[in-house]
Amino acid sequence: MIMIRPAFLVASAGVVASLALTACEPPGKPPITKKWKAPTEVTDFTKLYSQNCLGCHSLGETSGPSLSMANPIYLASITREDLVNVIANGVPGSRMPAFAEVNGGSLTDAQIGIIADGILAKRQPVEGPVPAWSAPLGNPAAGQAVYAAVVESLKKTLPASVFRDGFLTNRDFLGLVTDQYLRSLVIGGSAELGIPNYREVLPGRALTDAEIADLVAYLSSQRPADYGKPPTNSNP
Ligand code: HEC
Repeated sequence: MIMIRPAFLVASAGVVASLALTACEPPGKPPITKKWKAPTEVTDFTKLYSQNCLGCHSLGETSGPSLSMANPIYLASITREDLVNVIANGVPGSRMPAFAEVNGGSLTDAQIGIIADGILAKRQPVEGPVPAWSAPLGNPAAGQAVYAAVVESLKKTLPASVFRDGFLTNRDFLGLVTDQYLRSLVIGGSAELGIPNYREVLPGRALTDAEIADLVAYLSSQRPADYGKPPTNSNP
């Protein structure tokens, strides 16, 4: 015998089925899509970045204590390989943690790749070539003259308070950052600190690769060797 099922019966069967399903969920239980995920399963860039990086590195909308990742010149200078390497291995001797699981960190290689790609997706076209992210130090004596020229030029536009405590040669600042940080700062500048990039610090022309290497060498040479070490007691 052929049974003809009225449409309303089919429809109401669906309603009953869905009622039955929801009836099993205790009240207040989050929907299935919001279920807890193991931290290693998070694959959303925004989530990964805000959970692991945003406290220290701005992505443009907030400010952070270390370099912003939303800097067009910086993003043009760093390669994906270097970025992945820094995230995975951290920066020894600094507050930059090593995130790779092999280093005791909390991120999988896939998550580190997602973060690197998400940061690099913010790249914008930049005119002309940009100095390499990393390079050996140059000549500190030559760098002293470059620094003097840069300070003289910036004094015309930046407030006097910026230079009061020694600006980039401030002992505490130099004690806290590595030479690579100094190089990245000189190249990309910092919108947050009001420091222009290497194309804007001198009137009418960019710093050359050699001047950048010399300037970083000079700043590095001003770092106090004893910074961060416990004071030695000179009184026997
Ligand atoms: C606890 C603070 C902290 C957290 C969290 C942190 N960083 Fe860092 N990061 C730093 C500091 C400080 C430095 C600069 C170290 C130095 O002096 O070279 C740094 C350096 C870097 C550099 C190299 C900068 C340069 O010199 O060119 C990159 C790239 C970077 N961090 C990306 C990230 C990413 C991506 C995350 C998240 C997965 C992250 N950091 C999380 C503090 C942090």
